[in-house]
Amino acid sequence: MLCLHAWGSAVLAFVLCVHGEPSSSKDTLVNPTENWLADEAEIALERVLSNIGPNGQYARSAGPGIIIASPSTENPDYYYTWTRDSALAIKTLVELFCNGKSSLQTQIMNYVDAQAILQTVSSPSGSLASNGTGLGEPKFTVDGKAFMGGWGRPQHDGPALRATALIAFGNWLLNNNHGHLARHNVWPVVRNDLSYVAQYWNKTGYDLWEETGSSSFYTASVQHRALVEGEVFARRVRDSCVYCKSQSPQILCFMQSFWTGSYIRASFGGSRSGVDASTLLASIQSFTLMAGCDDVTFQPCSPRALANHKVYTDSFRSLYALNQGIAQGSAVHVGRYPEDVYYDGNPWYLTALAAAEQLYDAIYTWNRLRSLTITAVSLAFFQDLYANATVGTYISSTATFKNILLAVRAYADGYVALVQMHAVTNGSLSEQYDKTFGTQLSARDLTWSYMALLNANMRRNAVMPPPWGSPGVSSIPSVCVATSATGTYAIAHTSPWPATLTRGIGVSKAKVTAGAQRPLL
Ligand SMILES: *[C@@H]1O[C@H](CO)[C@@H](O)[C@H](O)[C@H]1NC(C)=O
Ligand SMILES: *[C@@H]1O[C@H](CO)[C@@H](O)[C@H](O)[C@H]1NC(C)=O
Ligand SMILES: *[C@@H]1O[C@H](CO)[C@@H](O)[C@H](O)[C@H]1NC(C)=O
Ligand SMILES: *[C@@H]1O[C@H](CO)[C@@H](O)[C@H](O)[C@H]1NC(C)=O
Repeated sequence: MLCLHAWGSAVLAFVLCVHGEPSSSKDTLVNPTENWLADEAEIALERVLSNIGPNGQYARSAGPGIIIASPSTENPDYYYTWTRDSALAIKTLVELFCNGKSSLQTQIMNYVDAQAILQTVSSPSGSLASNGTGLGEPKFTVDGKAFMGGWGRPQHDGPALRATALIAFGNWLLNNNHGHLARHNVWPVVRNDLSYVAQYWNKTGYDLWEETGSSSFYTASVQHRALVEGEVFARRVRDSCVYCKSQSPQILCFMQSFWTGSYIRASFGGSRSGVDASTLLASIQSFTLMAGCDDVTFQPCSPRALANHKVYTDSFRSLYALNQGIAQGSAVHVGRYPEDVYYDGNPWYLTALAAAEQLYDAIYTWNRLRSLTITAVSLAFFQDLYANATVGTYISSTATFKNILLAVRAYADGYVALVQMHAVTNGSLSEQYDKTFGTQLSARDLTWSYMALLNANMRRNAVMPPPWGSPGVSSIPSVCVATSATGTYAIAHTSPWPATLTRGIGVSKAKVTAGAQRPLL
């Protein structure tokens, strides 16, 4: 099923809901990893729902729409709700909802209501009333109260990710003739978050791993996306976001400074190399079909992001005992960053799945562009998988194009196979698995692990996220400047939602053939 929803005439950008063509028959499912992934995706969705209050079986004491990071209450205690993890989970659920899983409506609407309230909670980070400072608070108790203990705060990625998740839902509402709900229930929450991003993006904060207080590439990347799509969304709800427009080019400008020439440095400051999974997460979370293999926004198939994928994955090859004997060019166990000491430093499920997802995104884009370009920057990445690779552009009718895509696909599947190998037989995924023995470690049933699996599964099946961005999104100002802008902070009051959100009223559907090729099997 394919659908194109046109934006308002004043807006040049557009939203596509793209579904892959269904595989011709069940017997194309001969790959054991493919079979496992399809089954595991169903389990993953069930387990994510188990982590959402109050009806999820592991989140009974959590409020409606509150998403716990994990049911684990000790060693480690993740029985809290993080703004970041929750936003990432809801973004995935919104995608599934947009693609037909209507039953997720309740969790999504409850999430919007819960966030409107959480935004008003005063915490050690501050409050909404004092220039939105409270929005930088990273986590809350499951009954929606401030967490008063010491923590790495503020964290500036949370509001940006929440804005992105809510905009995805808001766009669906607008596209399905529920514009009043987008305006009255979604936009006021989004506006606070966009105001926060515009005001504080150029201040240091804690990174997504909650360890480094500095400037983080991941944070900048999700902030850039939020302001770009926030500006478009504002116009769709008949408002405007001048502060989005003034700040987003400067964030993109700043992002360029993290490129080292061979990999993306995760953050400035500290003694680490900066080789870090968060840069892959940034790339897959900023994926948009509108940007092709653009280097400036570090798209998954960009030469920069592919070179980065190699430097990142190679940094673990000799680090973990589990990787012994795995040849260059084959998937290896990967963790957050090579210097990691949390639980003594181990592979994480969500990082292996991110390594796979980036490559599925790349395959999809090359198919769509009907060509693939190898540059001096990405050459080493390709040579690992296809020894004969040389710098050049290969169109889709060539054997080189086809062979490289098959090799990339097999390499990506290799990362999924590693996850399969170390998942519990009942499908449970914790946060990490032991770098020597492969047994599960740290928080059980981690929401983010399941979300990563659902995303990798969608991308592998050519189910792509709605594009974000607008023409000219990749143009960088000639000079990067330290800057900030002030928006609007106001308590969001959501009105009651309808019991059922009807789909598709007044939506024109058009077939989009160019955007929906299934990756080569
Ligand atoms: C908000 O920030 C502005 C500019 O930095 C400052 O003048 C003002 O006092 C702040 N207001 C509050 C309530 O913190
Ligand atoms: C603020 O932006 C300037 C210009 O891009 C950059 O040099 C500086 O490092 C940034 N500071 C922070 C904390 O983001
Ligand atoms: C290697 O590349 C050369 C030159 O592009 C080509 O003629 C040859 O067929 C390639 N070999 C393989 C195995 O793809
Ligand atoms: C899956 O199995 C593990 C290990 O036996 C167990 O701890 C966990 O509770 C199970 N998960 C579920 C959701 O049943």
